[in-house]
Amino acid sequence: MSLSLVTGSYIIAGLLFILALAGLSKHETSMRGNTLGAIGMGVALLFVILGVVLGLTDNGGSAQVAAPPWAIGAIVLALIIGAIIGITKAQRVEMTGMPELIALFHSFVGLAAVLVGWTSYYHNVASGHFDALHSGELFVGIFIGAVTFTGSIVAYLKLSAKIKSAPLTLPGHNLLNLGAIVAFLVLTVCFVLYPAGSNGLILISAMTLLALLLGLHLVASIGGGDMPVVISMLNSYSGWAAAAAGFTLNNDLLIITGALVGSSGAYLSFIMCKAMNRSFISVIAGGFGSDGAVKGEEKDYGEHREISAVEVAELLRSASSVVITPGYGMAVAQAQSAVADLTSKLRAKGVEVRFGIHPVAGRLPGHMNVLLAEAKVPYDIVLEMEEINDDLADTEVVLVIGANDTVNPAAAEDPASPIAGMPVLEVWKAAQVIVFKRSMATGYAGVQNPLFFKENASMLFGDAKERVEDIIKEL
Ligand code: TAP
Repeated sequence: MSLSLVTGSYIIAGLLFILALAGLSKHETSMRGNTLGAIGMGVALLFVILGVVLGLTDNGGSAQVAAPPWAIGAIVLALIIGAIIGITKAQRVEMTGMPELIALFHSFVGLAAVLVGWTSYYHNVASGHFDALHSGELFVGIFIGAVTFTGSIVAYLKLSAKIKSAPLTLPGHNLLNLGAIVAFLVLTVCFVLYPAGSNGLILISAMTLLALLLGLHLVASIGGGDMPVVISMLNSYSGWAAAAAGFTLNNDLLIITGALVGSSGAYLSFIMCKAMNRSFISVIAGGFGSDGAVKGEEKDYGEHREISAVEVAELLRSASSVVITPGYGMAVAQAQSAVADLTSKLRAKGVEVRFGIHPVAGRLPGHMNVLLAEAKVPYDIVLEMEEINDDLADTEVVLVIGANDTVNPAAAEDPASPIAGMPVLEVWKAAQVIVFKRSMATGYAGVQNPLFFKENASMLFGDAKERVEDIIKEL
């Protein structure tokens, strides 16, 4: 096997990753995209390991040496441990736990970039050779990796409700973030100029600590409503961290893969900011521009009305148009198959049923689409928020199944609301709205929902799956 074979395999893996991204952009081709990505990763792993084992990696001109047996043993052991963790996690994870698992995986990428950077630094210390460009690369790589590492851990804790999702607002938090970036730039220049000896060690240690604290602070300052963008931003950061590690290791495939993840994650964040009417810069700067307060809790919206499953069934029997807007509660209740059955029953009776999907419904991009596809709901009746919003005023019945923030009229009507300005599904414009949830509790953003108190809205309390099944029985 030669070095050119390894390089050729990198090109093939890179192409497979690009095809995977293209496939993942549509429901119909997403399975194929996923398979292509997995094959690409398999090819990449195989040839990277063979390259290291046989000493065929391009070490930037240094001698090509086959790995000693202990190193091969260590690689095999790491592969086995990683595969066991990956397979068990993937098999056990609930759909509702996906976002926090993704956040945890991002933290691993960040940590790996930090470790690669520090190893490379010690390699330079041992050889006594410091190249200015390489010093800058490894310094930047450790910085991005450390921000990604702690930022992703805070995101994991917030998403799994292990800490409160409300934003942390330290006095002058924007200045703190800005100060950290300026300090990083100064430290980088100093490290490039004086990388050797104790000076270098102090500079790189100070920067690592600074980046770890910055990651913590950036994500802690972001409120619940902006978490979706943060997840895709951390996805992007993890890509850039991997690309930086690729520069440090002189590995072209890691650079390509990191850049693909980094740029697609950044673009996804941009699209989500647009969908939620948030400023991209303010979200990535850690809640810049928001005072972080959660308001609207104390307001008295009056009394809510309750409805039974039997009454909902009656209402649906006489309706000609129904729109279903699912949210995170549908995922918690695992109600997607029951919702799909209800849909087929109503369609068989000649009722027009469509779905309205908010871009941040659930806890990860496309969460509702994945659940509905799994339950075999036809794609052509699943519409995006912009496609359905104008039709809601002419809809007879809207079934809000475990959604809350994404149907909150306060976003459109109350400028003081923490989610003000975020486009929402305007379900309150329909003739009748039935809200399926277990209590009057707030949604992810911790904001009360005036929809529940509107004249045309009724609450159907209980687990969404059980209530939908009750309705199916009545029909
Ligand atoms: P949420 O606002 O999170 O509300 C979900 C509702 O489901 C809750 O109010 C809850 O009320 C109800 N629920 C929970 N379990 C239920 C069950 N078993 N049966 C019936 N109802 C149940 O949902 P949403 O409208 O989908 O909004 C998503 C929120 O998550 C947004 O704030 C968004 O910014 C945020 N977020 C989204 C993402 C992405 S990328 N999608 C990522 C992170 C955060 P009860 O407890 O009263 O039942």
